[in-house]
Amino acid sequence: MTVHFIGAGPGAPDLLTLRGRDLIASSPVCLYAGSLVPEAILGHCPDGAKIVNTASLDLDAIMTEIEAAHAAGHDVARLHSGDLSVWSAMGEQVRRIKAAGIPFTVTPGVPSFSAAAAALGNELTLPGVAQSVVLTRTPGRATSMPAGETLENFAKTGATLALHLSIGNVDQVVADLTPHYGEDCPVAVAYRASWPDEKILRCTLGTLKAALTPDITRTALILVGHALDSEGFAESCLYSTDYDRRYRPQTAESPWASWSHGDD
Ligand SMILES: C[S@@+](CC[C@H](N)C(=O)[O-])C[C@H]1O[C@@H](n2cnc3c(N)ncnc32)[C@H](O)[C@@H]1O
Repeated sequence: MTVHFIGAGPGAPDLLTLRGRDLIASSPVCLYAGSLVPEAILGHCPDGAKIVNTASLDLDAIMTEIEAAHAAGHDVARLHSGDLSVWSAMGEQVRRIKAAGIPFTVTPGVPSFSAAAAALGNELTLPGVAQSVVLTRTPGRATSMPAGETLENFAKTGATLALHLSIGNVDQVVADLTPHYGEDCPVAVAYRASWPDEKILRCTLGTLKAALTPDITRTALILVGHALDSEGFAESCLYSTDYDRRYRPQTAESPWASWSHGDD
């Protein structure tokens, strides 16, 4: 018996990996975080599967479900939205599962920041503009931020920021970021990216508060950074005609000319 943690993706049911789909289909028990995991994904569960929405359960109750499945020898598909590496509460479940001696696997999913960038049609790293993306959040009712992880500190880098769980903290976002990025810095808000009611707003730090509509109260990402609307960035070396590289040696004298693909 194994607990399979599966990233269920940002919302569209077809943004699920084939591995995730197959594990759901072979697991007689499915526990899913109902607040964000689309119900359509549950259609992959086998006939007669026990399907439990964990949105109203606490950690002890979730462990009770897992231990019951373990005792019955039933694999569990444990679904969380997006990818499991960020804000999934997988860490605390894994700690309990390890202590109980229950085997587990982890299957990644499409994170919401990727779905938001796809909806925008934007690359978040551009040569000379931004080469880092910071996945972060602002403090919430239940979660404070570690001392060094302030918006000001991240803003000092000039990186593209992907602010999760922060649509209720727009005043702080604008106040903390404007001194570093400037009022004209491009911002995009992706509400329910990849869901049928997806909404995308483009604005600036200066116009963000006015641009937000009353329906955007949760499940939204705020992307901030100059990579969002740069046109004048340099092309990368990757496809440059005169850049000597392993896969495209420019001359017979190139150190890559005699390189064989079997070398690494
Ligand atoms: C508990 S976190 C889950 C993050 C998830 N594990 C991931 O990989 O993106 C929930 C936050 O992720 C963001 N989010 C999740 N799904 C989203 C979507 N489809 N569109 C926009 N933001 C989303 C929102 O900021 C939301 O407040």
